[in-house]
Amino acid sequence: MNKQYDVAVIGAGPGGYVAAIRAAQLGLSTVCIDDFSGEDGKPSLGGTCLNVGCIPSKALLESSENYEKVMHKFKDHGIEAKEVSFDVAKMLGRKNTIVKQFTNGISLLFKKNKVDSEFGRAEFVSTGDLTTLKVVGKKGETLLDAKHVIVATGSKPRELSQAKIDNKLICDNVGALAFDTVPKHLVVVGAGVIGLEMGSVWRRLGAKVTVIESMPGFLSLADQAISKEAFRVFTKVVGLEIKLGCTLKKLDPKKNNISVVYDDGQSETTIECDRVVVAVGRVPNTDGLGLNKVGIAVDDRGYIVVDEHNATGVKNIYAIGDVVRGPMLAHKSSEEGVAVAEEIAGQAGHVNLDTIPWVIYTSPEIAWVGRTEQDLKAEGVPFRIGQFPFIASGRAKAIGDTHGFVKMIAHAETDQILGVHVIGPYASELISEAVVAMEFGATSEDIARIVHAHPSLSEAMHEAALGVDGRYLSL
Ligand code: FAD
Ligand code: NAI
Repeated sequence: MNKQYDVAVIGAGPGGYVAAIRAAQLGLSTVCIDDFSGEDGKPSLGGTCLNVGCIPSKALLESSENYEKVMHKFKDHGIEAKEVSFDVAKMLGRKNTIVKQFTNGISLLFKKNKVDSEFGRAEFVSTGDLTTLKVVGKKGETLLDAKHVIVATGSKPRELSQAKIDNKLICDNVGALAFDTVPKHLVVVGAGVIGLEMGSVWRRLGAKVTVIESMPGFLSLADQAISKEAFRVFTKVVGLEIKLGCTLKKLDPKKNNISVVYDDGQSETTIECDRVVVAVGRVPNTDGLGLNKVGIAVDDRGYIVVDEHNATGVKNIYAIGDVVRGPMLAHKSSEEGVAVAEEIAGQAGHVNLDTIPWVIYTSPEIAWVGRTEQDLKAEGVPFRIGQFPFIASGRAKAIGDTHGFVKMIAHAETDQILGVHVIGPYASELISEAVVAMEFGATSEDIARIVHAHPSLSEAMHEAALGVDGRYLSL
């Protein structure tokens, strides 16, 4: 007889592990199956985010930012640091320790919440009143039956035919987080979120960084005012060389270096570099899941098709996170996990995809929620804008980080906030106020009438709100 559960979750990333914990909290017998193993070959829970994504990248961003500050920013504060050096091995060690603490932490959370954990690759066998899954692990095959299944198998890097990833010279996110030395010249293919974050890390540590982007525009998902300011700061201040509208023709790896050939529309150029990172987007991961055996549909881009409650259309089977539509972000995956677990337990779970915050952890940070100016123009929605620069913020001056601004967009007639876009210090933290405001249907006038501490970066949000009505007090 197969072991039977109320809920089986496939994948222990931020979608799957959170769904499993919430389901167990609600009294449902739950198993979470995951196949990710660390460098030591042992199971390592937490998926892309904890192992090779959000957490390790932020650890390296912080280390490299500290070095950057000592080298270039402390002088302004009257602090002289002599003979400063850094140790890449220690930086990687620190990053790995943080990852281990969190991945082990998930195991402890599973024990605490009585979630069973299975290590291995899961696939669908059949479905009916119960769904049967086969798990292939180191110890062989196991069959499990579950009343409900949540697919949370995440995403994997999109591959390019010109770039064979070896994670030594030509890397995806996994290799980019583990260079054992600083490259002399790093070429990043794709000026998206990973390219900008990882490019920043290795630039700050001394690499020359060239970013090759196929689109003619920069950060097209972001509000265009933000993209423009980001491009200016990244190229003029941070020192990234960003080449827009370029087609990658060929990567030719030698023993220790790579020839990168790209075409800018006029002519072909060859760059000799010693590392390449390919970050051209991620694709949903449904390899070997056997979706067709149970009739789960995928769309033409490979995402599992779900409704607004993350139901797949096959009774009692749900899918969440990167493997379904919507932004590929850890917090979006987790909230969908909670919502589905609560739905299964008979409660009402819901995720508002319109108020998911985006953050890019570069310096300056970029964060936004809601609609961009270009979206609203295209939709013909009337709006008003307030925009306040950090150069006029006392706190930003004191920190010494004055690039960027807060831009608030509100409906021209109702004044309801439709989008907030921030580029500047601690944008990742500032954006929460905007998310809360939008969830509560706030107007710019609501934010304008709330007291913000002085001196704080949040005053820039306050001023942007005042600015929607042309009532800036400090500009
Ligand atoms: P995943 O985290 O991908 O987890 C899926 C898990 O399922 C994996 O462990 C996988 O091995 C396992 N699995 C797959 N198939 C099977 C199977 N058949 N059987 C068993 N197990 C299976 N997002 C943010 O919000 N903030 C950030 O700062 C951020 N930084 C990032 C940095 C990088 C370099 C990368 C690559 C991503 C980053 N992301 C960030 C995105 C974030 O990592 C993903 O959105 C998030 O991990 C998706 O969670 P998930 O649970 O849907 O899938
Ligand atoms: P991305 O979608 O952010 O950017 C990919 C970039 O590559 C785009 O600008 C695209 O135009 C470009 N591109 C595509 N094909 C190309 C080609 N052949 N040559 C040159 N450029 C090409 O994807 P990325 O950076 O791989 O990240 C994947 C996802 O992971 C992100 O979209 C995001 O959802 C998530 N992520 C989130 C982070 C965060 O929240 N801070 C950090 C890192 C990743």
